[in-house]
Amino acid sequence: MKKYHVYLILSIIFLTSCSKSQSIEGRLVETLKTDWKFTKGDVEKAETLNFDDANWETVRVPHDWAIYGPFDKKNDAQGVKVHADGEKKKKLRLGRTAGLPHIGIGWYRKTFKTPDNIKDKKLFVEFDGAMSHAQVYVNGEFVGEWPYGYSSFHFDISRFITKGENTLAVRLENKEQSSRWYPGAGIYRNVRLVYTDKAHVKHWGTYITTPKVTNANAEVHIKTSVLGQGDLTLLTEIYNSKNELITKHKMTQIVSGESEIAQTFKIDNPDMWSIETPLNYKVLSKVIKNEKEVDVYKSTFGIRNFEFTIEDGFHLNGKRVQIQGVCMHHDLGPLGTAINVSALKRQLDILKGMGCNAIRTSHNSPAPELLKLCDEMGFIVMDEAFDEWKKGKNKNGYMHLWDEWAEKDLVSLIHRDRNHPSIFMWSVGNEILEQFTDEGWEKAKFLVDIAHREDSTRPVTIGMNKEAPAENNFAAQFDVKGWNYHTHLYPWLKEKHPDWKFIASETQSTVASRGYFDLDTKPTKHYRRDNMQCSDYALDYCNWSNTPDVGFAMLDDNPHVAGEFVWTGFDYLGEPSPYNIEWPTKNSYFGIVDLAGFPKSMYYMYKARWTDEDVLHILPHWNWDANEVKTLPVHVFTNFDSAELFVNGKSQGIRTKNPKEVYERYRLVWNDVPYEAGEVKVIALNANGKPAMENSIKTALEPFNIKLTNNYSEIKADGESLTFVEVDIIDKDGNFCPLADSNITFTVEGEGVFEASGNGNSTDITSFQSNQRKAFNGKCLAIIRSTGKPGKIVVKASSEGLKSSEIEIDVVE
Ligand code: GAL
Repeated sequence: MKKYHVYLILSIIFLTSCSKSQSIEGRLVETLKTDWKFTKGDVEKAETLNFDDANWETVRVPHDWAIYGPFDKKNDAQGVKVHADGEKKKKLRLGRTAGLPHIGIGWYRKTFKTPDNIKDKKLFVEFDGAMSHAQVYVNGEFVGEWPYGYSSFHFDISRFITKGENTLAVRLENKEQSSRWYPGAGIYRNVRLVYTDKAHVKHWGTYITTPKVTNANAEVHIKTSVLGQGDLTLLTEIYNSKNELITKHKMTQIVSGESEIAQTFKIDNPDMWSIETPLNYKVLSKVIKNEKEVDVYKSTFGIRNFEFTIEDGFHLNGKRVQIQGVCMHHDLGPLGTAINVSALKRQLDILKGMGCNAIRTSHNSPAPELLKLCDEMGFIVMDEAFDEWKKGKNKNGYMHLWDEWAEKDLVSLIHRDRNHPSIFMWSVGNEILEQFTDEGWEKAKFLVDIAHREDSTRPVTIGMNKEAPAENNFAAQFDVKGWNYHTHLYPWLKEKHPDWKFIASETQSTVASRGYFDLDTKPTKHYRRDNMQCSDYALDYCNWSNTPDVGFAMLDDNPHVAGEFVWTGFDYLGEPSPYNIEWPTKNSYFGIVDLAGFPKSMYYMYKARWTDEDVLHILPHWNWDANEVKTLPVHVFTNFDSAELFVNGKSQGIRTKNPKEVYERYRLVWNDVPYEAGEVKVIALNANGKPAMENSIKTALEPFNIKLTNNYSEIKADGESLTFVEVDIIDKDGNFCPLADSNITFTVEGEGVFEASGNGNSTDITSFQSNQRKAFNGKCLAIIRSTGKPGKIVVKASSEGLKSSEIEIDVVE
């Protein structure tokens, strides 16, 4: 314990004073966040040690060079034919990658000083991800490359460094037409320097499995790869979730280069990892040489068991769990792809709030921070590697990398991620075009074999479409069969392959704009409106997709399917179907939550289904022009079976869910409700027909005031944490104004700086960094970063004709 503290203290001292030169002992990790130099475009000799980068921009990493815009429809306009859309001809797609300037070359440089006694040390540089085609140089010398922008990679740079000042230079290049969505640009994830002794635990060098788990005890197997020479002792210590040392084991081995040391532990009465109790264990792997501790490597793991069954889906720790998942892209809306823990945490908090318990990292390796949060917050994860294999979806897509990189990228993902308790399956692809070919199964087998070789504890899946892969030996390669959409196929698949296990790897793709309601409520395929919005009744969908109602019915009628991953949890940058040839529109309409983090109506449909909380949500809003709207449809998303609706006190009748009609099975519907300004109220009825809960919406008067809310009362004084101030435009009585589009100006005082704003409107192409943002259907958002010093942040919001407001946030050490 004592030595661990010494190690920690050394690391902390090193991290806080990394520019000063000092000696090191053991393992030291320096995350390279500040004082990077950056320029766009190719620059000759930019990798050399003495290159003058004084004119380059100084940036902080993680950094997304393209999120600063400007938006332009010419940026990466793509002439493509999209198979999933059933297209026969190429169309010029605008906004497919958000219209942001991510194409081209970018250079980063970072100077660092090595500590004094590096003679017998090793130095590694680790990238969590760089978009894309990274070429890494140290002191002008080429160190290595990694083209796939989502993979984590690392290099041993020991032989390139000199004592004192050194330069790390990174060249990145994004090619046009290489992505179906906004991939981001730049060093958008963290970069670390890691100093170790020559004898040390390899990068991602522990593999921890729990082959036997019961409530009474668990067997823990740890394989540790130790590098070095001679007699080395590995001391492995396991700490429980309260950070108490519970068991340890020492082993000495003669190492020559690399040795894998296997140890087995038994833990009695284990703390089980589950969605409700996400308890993590910590492992410290200590390398001892000549009686001196020369390295300490930390890993975490969880104790749980799970299985997919043929009959009734997924079981975690012996209990059936319905997978209530969402697919997520990697961008963070107005922040772009630059990874940020507070922004990830906010996304997960919002998703947890509707009962979501699973994340699919569509369609690529996620940031490690996301997986850590999933371990700690209790989400199960489908960790996905690819969207494309050798048959291309994009002119400059992964097909060009496949031959040389497919194995390396998959191994990188699995080695990095295989200790996470949250991960319960590997997905090696999404709607891969090889699924429709006779030989496609060979590539499927190639990847499945790699995944099995690198981790025998998790099943391998993939997201498939249509009938072909069930018939041509492609689907047969996978442990669990994932089908995207095609809800009608599930009974057929079961009948054809009664011994297969299924998951709905991607569902719905319902399109909606928060707060915009088209009163024509026929479930509508690919509807195009002049305002380029989709209706928030959760009834608009694409020609390959469906509404939540149809998806829910499929799952309820096919209980052998383990659950679903809805496309998507949040709106994301790019792929603005159905408006994929129009401009301006920069982000998707698929999210259950919009790009600014505001729930759309369907959030409550999922919440009603996915939680035990009482839900009673009325739509649409109640601010219509009575001259134009005489009657309108009222829908209620609820987990009560029956409810009675009232308009200004007049009953509009009781509705009860009807399992025989798909659009009455999961929502209560009153068509042709007479509209008059005032109040619409719904009273839910319990099984005995007695009132159980009520909810109402009042017609709002003119916008009058700005209501500011922040769900996090404090943030960390680390110069990195973000806080999210939400704006609601309200009338003088405090009623929400659902149509308000007031232009809000934000100012920030104290220990915060303005970072970005958003409103969830796909068609708004005002710069994300603008401190002025129009409300969209009554709401917008300001994102503030802490300066790095403790104190208070005051955010003020004003708009012409409205009362101004302010809100305070504590910034704590
Ligand atoms: C799916 C695809 C996703 C996304 C979605 C949009 O077919 O897997 O990546 O494109 O369609 O509906």
